[in-house]
Amino acid sequence: MRKKIIAGNWKMNLDINESKQLIENIKNSEFDKDKEVIIFPPYVFLQLAEEELKDTDIRLGAQNLCQYDDGAYTGEVSAKMLKALGVDSVLVGHSERRTIFSENDQVINTKVKQGLENGLRVVLCLGESEDIREEAKHEDFVREQILKGLDKIEAKIGQLIIAYEPIWAIGTGKTCDPKDAEKMCKFIRDQLASLYGQEFAEKTRILYGGSVKPENAKELLEKENIDGALVGGASLDSKKFLDIINYEV
Ligand code: PGA
Repeated sequence: MRKKIIAGNWKMNLDINESKQLIENIKNSEFDKDKEVIIFPPYVFLQLAEEELKDTDIRLGAQNLCQYDDGAYTGEVSAKMLKALGVDSVLVGHSERRTIFSENDQVINTKVKQGLENGLRVVLCLGESEDIREEAKHEDFVREQILKGLDKIEAKIGQLIIAYEPIWAIGTGKTCDPKDAEKMCKFIRDQLASLYGQEFAEKTRILYGGSVKPENAKELLEKENIDGALVGGASLDSKKFLDIINYEV
């Protein structure tokens, strides 16, 4: 049985007081402890979040990391720094990083490596654009992202989490049809099986992301191959986020 993950990607939102309040609302509420909860605040609130999350089961994630170890990389944050701060997981290859900040598969591959080598769990994000989906090339495209992103990466079971996030569904309110999302997550699992073997594939969590909200969470999360959700917008509202964790509308 794969434990479901509900992850909140705050992106570049909220100020320090709002961040503190959001964490307090989540940690002081009743939620289904059979799910694993991870929050991904901006870098500058990680320390605050780490203090707030002590003595809770909620895990801390970072939205990005640098592909290099350390040195003259102005403005960057290393995997080692994140690890020392108590960060558990890191997002790599989010479509906003790929499109707005021009991160290519080679950079993403190096970031995956950095994260894993420094003991962070890596949430590798994948997903096609609307054009690619319309041309029915989404499977080939995502396969390519997997092969390049995980090239020469030796991941152990539990270290890698995948988030399938079709770009056209991110922040648009357009959710992928749960049947299509399930199909893609199964497709991704099959790719993992050819790369790392059946056991690895069976035990790796594959999340869906893209306009997840309380109204559609249940239908998505009950699918066999969807092991959780990466939630953007709705994770900024504690009630919505908790309703997603508890599958309530
Ligand atoms: P969204 O974002 O839920 O606002 O669509 C998801 C994500 O980008 O991870």
